[in-house]
Amino acid sequence: MLDNDDNHLQLRSKYQMNKLKIITSTTRPERKGVFVADWIKNIAITFGKFDVELLDLAVINLPLMDEPNHPRLQQYTHEHTKKWSAIINEADAFIIVLSEYNFSFPAPIKNALDYLLNEWKYKPAGIVSYGGISGGLRSTQMLKQVLTALSIMPVMEAVSIPFFNKYIKEDKFLPEEIVIKSAHVMLTELERWCEALKTMRTK
Ligand SMILES: Cc1cc2nc3c(=O)[nH]c(=O)nc-3n(C[C@H](O)[C@H](O)[C@H](O)COP(=O)(O)O)c2cc1C
Repeated sequence: MLDNDDNHLQLRSKYQMNKLKIITSTTRPERKGVFVADWIKNIAITFGKFDVELLDLAVINLPLMDEPNHPRLQQYTHEHTKKWSAIINEADAFIIVLSEYNFSFPAPIKNALDYLLNEWKYKPAGIVSYGGISGGLRSTQMLKQVLTALSIMPVMEAVSIPFFNKYIKEDKFLPEEIVIKSAHVMLTELERWCEALKTMRTK
């Protein structure tokens, strides 16, 4: 019996699927975002249309933006930037697993976005936000402004999870059916945008 990841690896080698990068937004020790990220990663693998990779910003470990040149020049001087550039460059679509800190997006995701420019361009992003009563909606609205500055297309169909903590049991995020349904709706739209925006990238 193959598990989800093994099956996914077999599919990856068989078909050239669109590359979906799932990016976390927080890096603090004991952060909860990774549980939500693991959950959406499994949903995205089961969805079957993407070659899925999870990028945990705590593991990627980018310092505060330390490149001397504007990212549009792509004259990167640091190894960490070159690696980050290569990972984002090969992506066809993103999911940002977004927390809300003080009614806005957490600094690590802004920092990771600021490092690059062309690598993000004309690619769609779905947002899975989590928080207290707001479900990360304020953070989502603010992040959309930043995404559009990078020519990332934020898809309207998002997943927002209020009181997300109540769905975490033994380090696993296990939400209600309605949240799972909204994830499928978002992935369906993400795939459509993904195909549409390929044309923009080839011109
Ligand atoms: C610095 C900080 C600010 C926060 N501000 C908000 C907020 O504005 N809205 C909200 O819903 N939750 C807020 N929270 C609670 C977070 O939703 C909760 O702690 C969540 O686990 C944070 O994501 P993380 O665990 O991935 O870091 C805040 C948490 C921290 C640490």
